[in-house]
This record gives sequence, structure tokens and C-alpha cells, in this order.
Amino acid sequence: MAVFLVVFLVVVVLCFICTALLRWNEVRYRKKGLPPGTMGWPVFGETTEFLKQGPNFMKNQRARYGSFFKSHILGCPTIVSMDPELNRYILLNEGKGLVPGYPQSMLDILGKCNIAAVNGSAHKAMRGSMLSIVSPSTIRDQLLPKIDEFMRSHLSNWGGKTLDIQEKTKEMALLSSFYQIGIASDEKSESLKTEFCKLVIGTLSLPINLPGTNYNRGFKGRKNVIEILRKIIEERRASPSTHNDMLGGLIGDNRYNLSIEEIMDQIITVLYSGYETVSTTSMMAVKYLHDHPRALQELREEHLAIRKHKGPDDPIDWNDYRSMKFTRAVIFETMRLATIVNGVLRQTTEDMELNGFLIPKGWRIYVYTRESNYDSCLYPDPLAFNPWRWKDRSLESHHHMMLFGGGTRLCPGKELGIAEVSTFLHYFVTKYRWEEVGGDTLMKFPRVEAPNGFHIRVSSSQ
Ligand code: HEM
Repeated sequence: MAVFLVVFLVVVVLCFICTALLRWNEVRYRKKGLPPGTMGWPVFGETTEFLKQGPNFMKNQRARYGSFFKSHILGCPTIVSMDPELNRYILLNEGKGLVPGYPQSMLDILGKCNIAAVNGSAHKAMRGSMLSIVSPSTIRDQLLPKIDEFMRSHLSNWGGKTLDIQEKTKEMALLSSFYQIGIASDEKSESLKTEFCKLVIGTLSLPINLPGTNYNRGFKGRKNVIEILRKIIEERRASPSTHNDMLGGLIGDNRYNLSIEEIMDQIITVLYSGYETVSTTSMMAVKYLHDHPRALQELREEHLAIRKHKGPDDPIDWNDYRSMKFTRAVIFETMRLATIVNGVLRQTTEDMELNGFLIPKGWRIYVYTRESNYDSCLYPDPLAFNPWRWKDRSLESHHHMMLFGGGTRLCPGKELGIAEVSTFLHYFVTKYRWEEVGGDTLMKFPRVEAPNGFHIRVSSSQ
């Protein structure tokens, strides 16, 4: 009886403390005019619920508070916006007190000149320089031949093997970028690959800079990446020869005249932005095509028709790429259904009013675009993999289609990313057939990933 009473008392006291803490945290953030919502626990907010329940957390909160609610996630008071019109407005109005709101750990490791860390005129310059190295004409004349050469060699010996396609597509995305940037030596690219992977993990970690933490390793990774890049740039500058690659474009750019620090951060941005996006889209396309034989057949026919007029070693060119209409549709449908990007983050630089509510200075806005991907008005039968829906090209430019973001920060690498995945699929489906080994788990939130790899058995087509 006494034990029971003690346990009972402990439970009552704990309940009291928990309720008091939750209440205190609500009162702490109480301010007239804020959107509805809950702030969760002190310090942690609702991060655990958000990470554990993922999209269901968002849907539940929306059911209770509407499409514009407050929360406290990932260490910051946050407004979640799930309204497509409002999301569009936020992305189009960056100048009016809104800047990117990515976690400090990410910005610290990606560098202070990184495009996501700069605003106003500095952003304009970095974006202008970025657009010049990934423009359609640069892709056509310089990058596509490099991507083709790289993919052909990367996919040359997959037949008869069991592969982790997640690992292979990650390696593919990174090494393909090295090739386009102009880092081709095996020795340099091997150490750059190792250090860059540390950097990536650091950007996704808690910002605790103690020996042994991922954050700390991420910083070391950045330091070593910078050292390697600095050497490459100095060698380039000392040499009289010109280079038709991204680095050549950045070093020889007289319009934006970037400093060496800016060039290095720009290169890190290219590597970082095209890494998980391109690799995950490629892996998920392999998955969906495997599960949808009719789509795979149509895709394969499109690529075999291109090969028909070519010798076995002829590269694909810009016209071939532009003719890959069904491939483009498969890529858009893959990005939509898998939701490669859940949304983007912004932060307020001053108190502002949005949607009739007050958003205090320094709060984050999570422009959550995931739900738009499953909007049945825009995508009838939204859970079905139906690439044919993208044959109507107007869907690509629909103002609620935010697979590549929108407004002033619309992804400048959109066409480059699509060209990379298309070239990968070209060599993959014309050279090979594959089946899944089975038993691998795919997680869809917070990132699309296969925690233990995604294994396929590959055989040659001929
Ligand atoms: C194909 C897969 C890709 C997807 C799904 C994707 C998606 C996105 C999204 C949603 C944004 C908006 C971020 C924001 O508003 O804060 C963005 C921005 C950006 N992306 Fe991509 N991206 C892809 C490939 C690439 C590639 C290959 C590059 C390489 C150059 C790239 C470079 C960038 C850069 C530099 C930004 C920042 C733009 C700015 O702040 O002005 N992306 N991307």
C-alpha cells in the first residue's frame, strides 16, 4: 500500500511539473496576434513529435489550428505555413523582411559566402555567378558532354552485380559534380570525397562544437575541403591554360569578380545542393520504375530510340536531352511522389504581419510544400505513380508546383539536376535490367533514405 502511495504521489508530482512546464512555455511565447498553435516543451519544443510523426504531426496540427500555425521545432520558434497561396507569397517576397532560415550549423559549415547565407546585393551577385555556370547554354556546350562521359564510365561495369543503389547514386551525384567543376585527378577527388561527406553530416547535426561530435567533424571536413580547393584554384590561376568547366567559369568571370573565398563557397554550394537531391531522385526513380513496368517500358523505348541513330560510343547531346520528354515526366513524378524536398525555411528580420497574424523578429517560417505534392486538385489520384500527368507541360509551371522552390531563390540548378538524372537513366535502362533484392526499408521523412541501403541485382540487357 505504502509503495503504491509513493508511486501515485510521484506520478502526480511529475504530471504537475510537466503541465507547469508546458504551460510556462506557452505563456513565454504569448503575444497578441500570433497564429494559433502550441510551443511544446521548453528548449525542445515539439521537435520530437515533429521528427517522430513527420507529415502526420503537420496534418494533425493543421486539423486543429488551420494551415498557418505556430510551433517550436528544431530549436527555434517557428510558423508552419501549409497554404499554397501563402507559401508562394512568402517565397516571392523575400526582400520584405524575410531571409533564408537554415540552421546555424548548416550555414557555419557551408561558409559565410554561401548563397543561403547571403541576402540583398550579395545574394544577387552569388546567384548571378551561379546562374552563369549552370545556364542552359553552359549545360549544352560544357557540362552535358562531361556528365555523359562520367555516367558512361560510372555505369560501365554494373552487370552481374548486386549493388546498393543508394550508395551508387550518391557516389554518382558527387563524382559527376567533381567532373563538371574540373576536379578530375583521382587522388584529389578521393580525399575531397571523404572530407565533403564529413561536411555534409556536420550540416545536419546539432551545433555542439566538442571533439568527437558530427558538428566538430563537419568543421574539420570544411577546413580540409577548403584547403584542397584553395590548392586547385591557385594551381589554375598560375597556369596559362583555360578550362571549359565550372571552376574555369568562376575564375575567369569578370562580371562578378568573385574572391577566392567566394569561389570556394560557391563550389561547396554546387556540391552540396546537387548531392542528395540528384542522388535521391535517381534512387527513387529506379524504385518507381521497377514497380511500374509500363512506365519502365515507355522510358526504355524513349532511350533506345535515341541510341538507334548512334554508335555504341556516341555521347548524348543537348537535342537528345531535350527529346527525353517521358524521362522528364518520370523525374518530376518521382520528385513529387517521393517528396525529395519537404519545404524551405525562412526567417523574419523584423516583426511583420502575415496572413493577418504577427510574426515576431527572428522567428522561422517553415514553408512546408510537401502537402501540395498530394493535392488531388492539382494531381488527381495523388498517391499513384503516374508520369503521364506531366505530359501536359503546363503542370511544370503551375504556380503551386514547388518541387524546386520559387521566387527569388528558385533552384538555379533545376535544369542541370534534371540533365544529370536523365543521363543516368539513359545509360541505366539501355544497358541493364534489374530486380530488387528485397527486405530494404525506405524512410520518407525527414529525408528520403534507405537506412541500410537499397539493394538491387543488375544484369546486362544484351
Ligand atoms: C534535381 C534536384 C534538385 C532539387 C529537387 C532542388 C531543389 C531546390 C529547392 C527546393 C531550392 C529552394 C531552396 C530555398 O528556397 O531555400 C533550391 C535552391 C538551390 N539549388 Fe537546387 N535542387 C536540385 C538540384 C540542384 C543542383 C544540381 C544544383 C547545382 C547547382 C542546385 C543548386 C541550388 C542552389 C545554389 C540553390 C539556392 C538558390 C538561392 O538561394 O538563390 N540545385 N533547390
